[in-house]
Amino acid sequence: MGLGRWYNRTLNRIWGFVEDRTSMRRWALRPQPEFTFKPSYWTGGFVATAFLYQVVSGALLLLYYQPSTATNATYTACGQAAGSLSPAPAAWCSTYYIIHSVPMGSLLLSTHLYGSYAMIFLMLVHFWRGYYLGAYKAPREFSWMVGTLLLLLTLGMGFTGYLLPYTQLAYNATDVGIVLTLGLPTLGPLTAPFILADGTPQGLLSRMFDAHVLLIPLAIAALLYAHVALFESHGIAPPASSDPLQRRRFTDREAKEHVPFMPHIFFYITKWGLLYVGILFGIAALWPWTLSSYYGNTAVAAPVTVPDWYFLWLFKLVDFVGVTPVIAVVVGTAIVVYILFLPFLDRSKRTHPRDRPLFLWAGTSLLEFFIVMSVWGGETPGIQIFPMTVVQTIAPIFVVNAVAVGLFYWRYARSYKRRLADRALGLPTPGAPPGASVPAAPVGAAEASARE
Ligand code: HEM
Repeated sequence: MGLGRWYNRTLNRIWGFVEDRTSMRRWALRPQPEFTFKPSYWTGGFVATAFLYQVVSGALLLLYYQPSTATNATYTACGQAAGSLSPAPAAWCSTYYIIHSVPMGSLLLSTHLYGSYAMIFLMLVHFWRGYYLGAYKAPREFSWMVGTLLLLLTLGMGFTGYLLPYTQLAYNATDVGIVLTLGLPTLGPLTAPFILADGTPQGLLSRMFDAHVLLIPLAIAALLYAHVALFESHGIAPPASSDPLQRRRFTDREAKEHVPFMPHIFFYITKWGLLYVGILFGIAALWPWTLSSYYGNTAVAAPVTVPDWYFLWLFKLVDFVGVTPVIAVVVGTAIVVYILFLPFLDRSKRTHPRDRPLFLWAGTSLLEFFIVMSVWGGETPGIQIFPMTVVQTIAPIFVVNAVAVGLFYWRYARSYKRRLADRALGLPTPGAPPGASVPAAPVGAAEASARE
């Protein structure tokens, strides 16, 4: 017997043994169609894997980290390490200790930090995929809305975690973020006591710590449960289509013929999850994170205030002459409201991006705006920008996209109309093999669309 066959048989036997005793197939997630064996169908699963890694690495960091601004003699040595004669705050020193004295501490901290970047990046990929492929359309509107809340909470994790090492840089950037949050009309003054506590640096650090390690992770876990429960109820979204009658759910009979989640899909995602952790460790080992000077160290010059990459766009917005924190917050809120209610703004039944020119234009412009602003914020942090430069840099994004999408849609709409007319006359579709007829709407389309 070949090694491959022996391996497969052994795995099947082990799995049969587990399945016999757990009946996992009955209670695990629902089966999925064959075509979902592609990474693009599991982008949310990768975000969940990244979240899991953050929870595990964060729990280990908690064994050593001290959320305190106290400076006492115990910490004189690490203060000296930062070029100062005075003791450094406990939060900074315990981070210093993790990096320099805990076995593998530097690797652990670096993977936690880079893991947060990766989680946010993967979440953005998951979000844009859903946006372009119309995954938010009926019946998945609530999945999308819960996802938007998850997006905000994940950014909140990044924001609250940034202060914890208690570096000068982190403190200044958090300060700017808090000014922006407190600038929110009505909500700002209401939330101020919860964020600032008694107004002391210790009060702020304690609140950020509590939010980072307890409140936000609990909220993410609860919403993730709802997100996955909704996914379980709808099944995976079918590929994007121009057909308004396309069914957006599989029937129970179809689902029975799909590939069981346990063990097949689970192991498929696990394989990618392990690759993710491997890459994370590789990057952290090659480029370990370095701790900059602590807040209150007068021996070194204050650094330029920059946030992590995902907030750069908002920081740059405040650099625009005439844009006050309130205006910046209003722009940010308007974008969030647009995303949250997108399923109710885009009501057409077709999911393919080419059939949604307005939303294709808005999404692409938003993506480019985000990239341009982030690069700009990283290149010239804190440098004021005058209105003329803003118009010259930002306006082309929206204008060029409008022209490109408009031309593309004009061409596409003409050929689409022609194909529909040919279809009505029973003529062959251009490009189809001779004799091939245009495929009819999927079986059950009418009932499904009535149900949805
Ligand atoms: C912490 C962040 C998030 C996690 C962990 C997460 C996780 C997941 C998972 C595991 C799925 C199942 C399918 C898949 O793996 O892709 C899923 C589906 C989905 N998610 Fe998320 N998600 C997150 C954020 C978001 C965001 C920001 C949005 C959009 C605003 C969103 C919208 C959706 C939609 C519409 C589906 C159904 C897609 C389909 O059926 O193909 N999610 N999510």
